[in-house]
Amino acid sequence: MAVNTINLVLRSVGPRTRAVPSLRYTTQRVSVFHRPLVASNSMTLRYSSDKASEPTQVAKEVPKKAGRGFKRTVLGTSLAIAMLVGYIYATDTRASIHRYGVVPLVRLIYPDAEDAHHVGVDALKMLYKYGLHPRERGNQDGDNALATEVFGYTLSNPIGISGGLDKHAEIPDPLFGIGAAVVEVGGTTPLPQEGNPRPRVFRLPSQRAMINRYGLNSKGADHMAAVLDQRVRDYAYANGFGDHEEAKQLVLNGEAGVPPGSLLPGKLLAVQVAKNKATPDGDLEAIKRDYVYCVDRLAQYADILVVNVSSPNTPGLRDLQATAPLTAILKAVVGAAKNVDRKTKPFVMVKVSPDEDADEQVSGICAAVWGSGVDGIIVGNTTNRRPEPLPQGFQLPPKEQNTLKETGGYSGPQLFDRTVALVGRYRTLLDQGPPAPESTKESAETAEETESPARKVLFASGGITNGEQARAALDAGASVAMMYTGVVYGGIGTVTRVKQEMRDQQKS
Ligand SMILES: Cc1cc2nc3c(=O)[nH]c(=O)nc-3n(C[C@H](O)[C@H](O)[C@H](O)COP(=O)(O)O)c2cc1C
Repeated sequence: MAVNTINLVLRSVGPRTRAVPSLRYTTQRVSVFHRPLVASNSMTLRYSSDKASEPTQVAKEVPKKAGRGFKRTVLGTSLAIAMLVGYIYATDTRASIHRYGVVPLVRLIYPDAEDAHHVGVDALKMLYKYGLHPRERGNQDGDNALATEVFGYTLSNPIGISGGLDKHAEIPDPLFGIGAAVVEVGGTTPLPQEGNPRPRVFRLPSQRAMINRYGLNSKGADHMAAVLDQRVRDYAYANGFGDHEEAKQLVLNGEAGVPPGSLLPGKLLAVQVAKNKATPDGDLEAIKRDYVYCVDRLAQYADILVVNVSSPNTPGLRDLQATAPLTAILKAVVGAAKNVDRKTKPFVMVKVSPDEDADEQVSGICAAVWGSGVDGIIVGNTTNRRPEPLPQGFQLPPKEQNTLKETGGYSGPQLFDRTVALVGRYRTLLDQGPPAPESTKESAETAEETESPARKVLFASGGITNGEQARAALDAGASVAMMYTGVVYGGIGTVTRVKQEMRDQQKS
């Protein structure tokens, strides 16, 4: 790419250089530093038989053009070098311009947070298309210092991008490119839905927090399936498998030696599914059908399927976290995931709310996880609570005090303490194994009750913004620390920075 950039610049300068007559006809090398000398030499060589008055004219012209040509060359080369250096700098996630230049600028130009979100996604998508996207340079995970085991895969690092940042699966690859080992796309619903009216996303800059009530705006599962299908086909073609249906199937069946979702070694793609708002809250069969429809359409492109029952912006959704409906939904999803036409089946996780945190709610969710055969939990999501501002005792500016009254889910650093505490509680409970069967234990219905069950996997999501917090979430029992709002405020280099902080912490 860098070479292309230079070539482009040189090509645009090249033809003009060839057109400068002084370089074509003078036998002596032209120097801008010795104009008079060059002038007289040229005069002699070219016009020795001419009249006395004529050379004067030529003597003025030739060196001037020669100098101009040299200047153009110098200018072109400098420009090419500047472009190359600029390109290398701006596309490196470590460049501070992303955090201190791009983020404030985008906030200034786009006062509406959703506009800013769209611009960011569109820009990343476009830059990726032309190979100009920001990315981690130099195989920073290559030392394996942060490598971690998740679902039998060795991930290059334990950092993930939370659901909602890439709602329509438009930019999974650029998000992998900025250093995340797990990218969760969606949530998607079976049918397309608009979500809530705008404005529906609000910033609290003093808190580096947000409130959103998107309401699961989605282009629908069919749309996302088409996008992800094309992605696999492009991958198959680019990697020499061909462009036919069988080529895609070969890649999905692991012939390329990469996970079938992420299509990248050491990384996993999670696809989040949810129900449509219009599907009646009380109709469990219809709700199950919603989730299963999404799974049927999307499971083959996912390493992990995430069942969203915790968005605060779809009325009634969080009630599905009660043990009985949750078990029923998760069983249906696990069943559908097992039917996917692929050698390895996607793992299934459920994303739970940080607000349903009473003991009986947490243990009820764990029971549903064991009862359904789901592989893990993402703890948690945005909160309906309005946490105390940080630092303690800080008075929010009046504008933000008003923003705080907006309906929606709150996200940002203020969630962190609760996230870690909740991860710890889920870890403890899940590590105790499935609840003992109520009757005499003689007939265990699920496989997990007969064999020693696999340890359930936890991902942490909520308020993680730096390496120390990511480490604390892992120490509390999570395998992956996920981020959303931290990336919005910290910019595209956030994942790289967080990982570097973790490495530094390990060394000290
Ligand atoms: C604007 C916005 C949109 C979100 N959309 C979704 C979504 O579609 N599905 C979901 O499960 N979580 C969604 N979330 C929640 C995040 O995935 C994350 O769990 C939550 O924001 C807490 O993490 P954070 O403090 O790092 O942002 C959204 C969050 C924000 C700020």
